Amino acid sequence: MRHFLEVDDLSADELRWVLDVSSGAPEAAPPALAGSGVALVFEKSSNRTRNSMEMAVRQLGGHPVYIRPEEVGMDVRETAEDIARTLACFHDVIAARVFRHSHLERMAACEVAPVINLLSDDAHPCQAVADLLTVSQCIGLDRAQRVAFVGDANNMWRSLAIGCAMVGIESSLAVPDGYGPSGATLDRIASRGGCTVTDDPAAAVAGADVVYTDVWTSMGQEDEQAERLAAFGPYQVTPELMSLAAPGAIFLHCLPARRGEEVAAEVIDGPASRVWQQARNRMHAARGLLAFLAGPALHGAASASPAQGAGP
Ligand code: CP
Ligand code: NVA
Repeated sequence: MRHFLEVDDLSADELRWVLDVSSGAPEAAPPALAGSGVALVFEKSSNRTRNSMEMAVRQLGGHPVYIRPEEVGMDVRETAEDIARTLACFHDVIAARVFRHSHLERMAACEVAPVINLLSDDAHPCQAVADLLTVSQCIGLDRAQRVAFVGDANNMWRSLAIGCAMVGIESSLAVPDGYGPSGATLDRIASRGGCTVTDDPAAAVAGADVVYTDVWTSMGQEDEQAERLAAFGPYQVTPELMSLAAPGAIFLHCLPARRGEEVAAEVIDGPASRVWQQARNRMHAARGLLAFLAGPALHGAASASPAQGAGP
């Protein structure tokens, strides 16, 4: 049984397969979830992730059930394991947005259904797949040379850096002292191809094809907001910073955004921004991921086979 808790739970070939399916028309998608339920468990708020998953499940013939934060009670009302075992009585896939990444690992370890990470404190792999799809559409995976991430070394950055490394795109991170990645995270990215880290936004962005940022205060870090605002102040993506990127560079943001904090309004609402294409790609990427995970896991056979045939 396959799970998707981080981008490198797929091989590089499998990631390319998922991106290929994600690129296809919704009507061309295999009915990989026909007759299946998909549990969508949320411990945190969501707009894009919930809506894109619900639509993708329907495009594959399945039935999504959204489970509200107050209904979950992870390790409070019952254990993460018992939540997974219960949901697997009704559903063929469990997708969850959680605070603790270990809750996803524990649910996956039950081996009762494929588990998909819809964002944890550590990782946001569904978003990273949509981001790579956007890069492939706007620039081409084989033409894009570097993605620069300016801001917090958070869940979003980690999944994006792993994904970039897996498809052979360099990535650079500009982050203030004290907010950089752990040694374990750097080791994990290094095992896929590596990334560079600096405290200088100009150095990270110089010549990049993609400039990416995310909020400075992620969900669950609200108590740190004031100190984060002070620490990240010089890391806003401004028109001046964008001017250092490669000619034709694009701007991406996973959203939700805080204009005037991590990004200037002129950038996110300007001509280089591709954030709405990126948001729409959440649905297409979710469809590709579900087709991959649900195909072999539920039916024991290959689902749709894109041209390169690297899929299950
Ligand atoms: N990018 C993203 O995951 O958005 P939501 O938090 O609205 O789902
Ligand atoms: N880093 C952000 C991403 C939101 C989609 C958070 O975890 O809140």
